[in-house]
Amino acid sequence: MPWRATVLTLFPEMFPGSLGLSLAGKALADGKWALDTIDIRNFATDKHRSVDDTPSGGGAGMVMRADIAAAAIDAARASMPAEAPTLYLSPRGAPLTQARARELAQGQGVILLCGRFEGVDERVLEARNVEEVSIGDYVLSGGELAAQVLIDACVRLLPGVAGNEGSLAEESFAGALLEYPHYTRPREWEGRNIPEVLLSGDHEKIAKWRREQAEAITKSRRPDLWARYGKGKP
Ligand code: ADE
Repeated sequence: MPWRATVLTLFPEMFPGSLGLSLAGKALADGKWALDTIDIRNFATDKHRSVDDTPSGGGAGMVMRADIAAAAIDAARASMPAEAPTLYLSPRGAPLTQARARELAQGQGVILLCGRFEGVDERVLEARNVEEVSIGDYVLSGGELAAQVLIDACVRLLPGVAGNEGSLAEESFAGALLEYPHYTRPREWEGRNIPEVLLSGDHEKIAKWRREQAEAITKSRRPDLWARYGKGKP
């Protein structure tokens, strides 16, 4: 059974979206992973097919009902491996990291709950053991794009998907540093030259230069990563 993502959403038309193209799209077409969407609205019980209601205690916006979200999660679980975790995409969640993407890619797959409105009734998150995940400190209008980000981060790590395993090992966050800069032909472009060392053929010198560049870039752009690197805790 290939790695599988089941997405619970009110907008199934948003999928596969970006996941249907390029690396992830080719791997999807090749059967290296599988994608299912479940329309949360199918679990509505009233004639208006409503899935949300006003927040208890008052306030702006609407909240997704616990009973509807739970029914959708239960339906997803029935067709997914029992070990697949259920994640809710939300700016309140724990930040998604490369380490978490690697863990998820090594598992059987994921069930992803995409919210709209103000959020989901807290009780369903507790009762169904749902893990909240954020893709960054900004607010999207729904979880669908965040779900695509998470899936993309996992899929490219699946065996046989990225093709060039070497580039996975070298890239940012795989190690503790941001990546060194890249160059290719033409050798001179708009008066700018490729750094001489890269044309020298001296692999030792090139490796040293790249490490220095990676360190300088990490230090100036990401002092948080740099501090961790200094303490030897990637
Ligand atoms: N839904 C809305 N904003 C989000 C974010 N930053 N991360 C994950 N899911 C979201």
